[in-house]
Amino acid sequence: MNLSAFGGLPLRSFETCWKAPSNIAFVKYWGKKGHQLPANPSLSLTLSECTTTTKLKLSEGEALSVSLLLDGKEMPGFAQKVQTYLQGLSKDLPWLLQSHFHIETSNTFPHGTGIASSASGMAAIALCLADYLFQGQRDSDFYQTASNLARLASGSACRSLYGGFASWGEVSDEYASPLEVHPELRELCDDVLVISSAEKSVSSRAGHERMQEHPFASARFEQAKKNYQQSKAALQSGDIHEVGRILETEALTLHAMMMTSPQGFTLFRPNSLVAMEKVRLFRQETKLPLYYTLDAGPNIHLIYPENSEIKKFIQSELSPLGEKLIADRAGEGPVLC
Ligand code: PMV
Repeated sequence: MNLSAFGGLPLRSFETCWKAPSNIAFVKYWGKKGHQLPANPSLSLTLSECTTTTKLKLSEGEALSVSLLLDGKEMPGFAQKVQTYLQGLSKDLPWLLQSHFHIETSNTFPHGTGIASSASGMAAIALCLADYLFQGQRDSDFYQTASNLARLASGSACRSLYGGFASWGEVSDEYASPLEVHPELRELCDDVLVISSAEKSVSSRAGHERMQEHPFASARFEQAKKNYQQSKAALQSGDIHEVGRILETEALTLHAMMMTSPQGFTLFRPNSLVAMEKVRLFRQETKLPLYYTLDAGPNIHLIYPENSEIKKFIQSELSPLGEKLIADRAGEGPVLC
């Protein structure tokens, strides 16, 4: 639904609270076209434990203003980011220019653990906003609009609106959609091995920009389209080995794009490589379906169907390589608090 359809909404006091999960991409979004539109389709697993809970209070103000507490602490930088985002939305929703937002937000995963909080954080804010627009109506239009609002804040956030798997860039470039998969792949585990929680040297925003001038950009977008189709087919037929093969190719390609961009950079660390190699050898020896992926950072997401032997290996061989291990798994999607 077009956001401008809500342009004439009368301003009223409003309060809501949503909990939204993070997600991990199996086929990556890396490179944009137009305004916050993806250069290729992507798909991701919505997580269960890594979530953001956001309370939003809206009241009438003289001009658009935002106050924001993260875990009880004032965050002027984050408040400014949200204000810039709302300012952008005011083209379609002019009443935003007379609103004051008070936002209280908290993450289940400690800040700076290397888990991207923008997907869950922006999805939670988008749900609060959509709640205001839809006034209690929570049908597929509500979730599509919330997904569209989340995308405008952070692309990957638009996929956090649905439980299980979500895809973005096939049905629409403007919002994500739920993706049905084979029953055996609905309950995948994702143990996040935090190799380093240090701040990234290059932000995702800057990384996307570097795809503009990238010598391999068009080949990458073609490959991603193919990987998307193949990954989706494998997820639907329940072929974990094919899903895992593409998962690892996507992670390696994402980081290869970073390394080969005109101003090349690396985000992984020596222990990221050690962990990847250990996973490969473990799989070779045991034939058990343990696979890895990385986000735009050094941390390793370990993806596998529930299995005690795999868990034992992760605890004894991989866990010592990182600062901490966060056990997560497929989640149900956002909830109203
Ligand atoms: O959502 P953004 O703009 O921070 O981009 C993040 C993209 C990746 O996380 C690296 C990949 C993805 O599809 O989630």
